[in-house]
Amino acid sequence: MTKFRPAFIKAIVLGLLLAPALSWASEGPEMASAQIDLNDKAALQRGAGLYMSYCSGCHSLNYQRYSRVAEDLGLSQEQVEQNLIYSNAKFGENIRTSMAPGDGLAWFGKAPPDLSVEARAKAQGADWIYNYLKSFYVDESRPLGWNNAVYKGASMPHVLWELQGQQHAVTEPKKKSASGEAEPCEMGEYQGQCIKGFVIPEGQKGTMTPEQYDRAARDISAFLAYVGEPAALQRESMGAWVVLFLAFFTFLAYLLKSEYWRDVH
Ligand code: HEC
Repeated sequence: MTKFRPAFIKAIVLGLLLAPALSWASEGPEMASAQIDLNDKAALQRGAGLYMSYCSGCHSLNYQRYSRVAEDLGLSQEQVEQNLIYSNAKFGENIRTSMAPGDGLAWFGKAPPDLSVEARAKAQGADWIYNYLKSFYVDESRPLGWNNAVYKGASMPHVLWELQGQQHAVTEPKKKSASGEAEPCEMGEYQGQCIKGFVIPEGQKGTMTPEQYDRAARDISAFLAYVGEPAALQRESMGAWVVLFLAFFTFLAYLLKSEYWRDVH
């Protein structure tokens, strides 16, 4: 039999165990985790409600039918028709936007994209959407008066400002590296300085508390994560079995290795 050095085997086993952690680590800039739970049906229902009233006017979900949402989120046809369908769409139809094609381009300088697979399109997944929804701030230099720290120069206005209130950027001078060059800002920049946070001045507060708004942003992100991959609702519960299987397999491989090496020593 070919001789594997124990160090080599250890490296492989270690690699297998660390692989998930490493792939996680390479996923771009750090963001606050939305901590979504795809098993939380109530959260997905709230997210669907918020999405339909605040987002579907501009964004379509062309790969998702109302009836499928009802089935997956445990809603009746009547509930969906009364609470989620804002257009004259039928229960069995796809979730289209009521905006005429071309209008978005004319109004915002950019067409609002279909969001069916948005949570999958971004490396940070639903976390990106969550952070995006929390990072709008007042910027008079922008055409619609809004900018976004996660998506600099976004042409989408802050459609949830009445809920969140109007955030203003708090800035600090750019840090200089040893060679005297300005270092890039972690949260983006505003008027030549680095953004370090946001404030909502008195008189510009929203109808929600910060905690309520966090939850709203999380629910919308969760809903879009679900839409991006309806099958994930089932896959989530399978993940645990896959990990168990891998652990068991590693254990078997270890037993096998000790068995082989007993004769060698
Ligand atoms: C008034 C129209 C309008 C509404 C309402 C709206 N958006 Fe947008 N959205 C846009 C436009 C326009 C863009 C394109 C921005 C750009 O690329 O500069 C956009 C971009 C986005 C993007 C980034 C897409 C990408 O990857 O480039 C996300 C995510 C998004 N919107 C989510 C939402 C969510 C969630 C809601 C509801 C809370 C919402 N939008 C409501 C107009 C809208």
